[in-house]
Amino acid sequence: MEIQWHESLATGVDTIDNQHKEIFARISGLVNMDIENLDPEKKEVELHKVLRFLGGYVLDHFKTEEGFMTQYHYPDYDSHKKEHIEFLKSYSSLVRMFEKEGATDLIVTATQNQAVDWLVKHIKGTDQRLGAFLKSI
Ligand SMILES: [Fe+2]
Ligand SMILES: [Fe+2]
Repeated sequence: MEIQWHESLATGVDTIDNQHKEIFARISGLVNMDIENLDPEKKEVELHKVLRFLGGYVLDHFKTEEGFMTQYHYPDYDSHKKEHIEFLKSYSSLVRMFEKEGATDLIVTATQNQAVDWLVKHIKGTDQRLGAFLKSI
């Protein structure tokens, strides 16, 4: 699995795009990792690092977007925020799994999928719609 920020993910709002770029850069270590050929300690360290990052920076990033939405009275605030909450719920269950079982291949793969699939889908639809709205006002 590979992950890289690409122009097709741009929202057109620099603050948001720069944060998305940072997220991609920070999770790429885990996402691009070949779990079959990695020693367990490295897996544990990488996963822990990414989970901590997701719970911190990504939370702040959501707040940035939600701040824009409130400030400019974005009409789709509720549904956008709901997606952020869904992400945080899945994130919390990953953390609970990790705390209980450590960096099993299942958790590493689930985090990779969660991070990539959710983020790409959310950015390409929901965040880009927000970007288009912010640019239109
Ligand atoms: Fe968002
Ligand atoms: Fe976003």
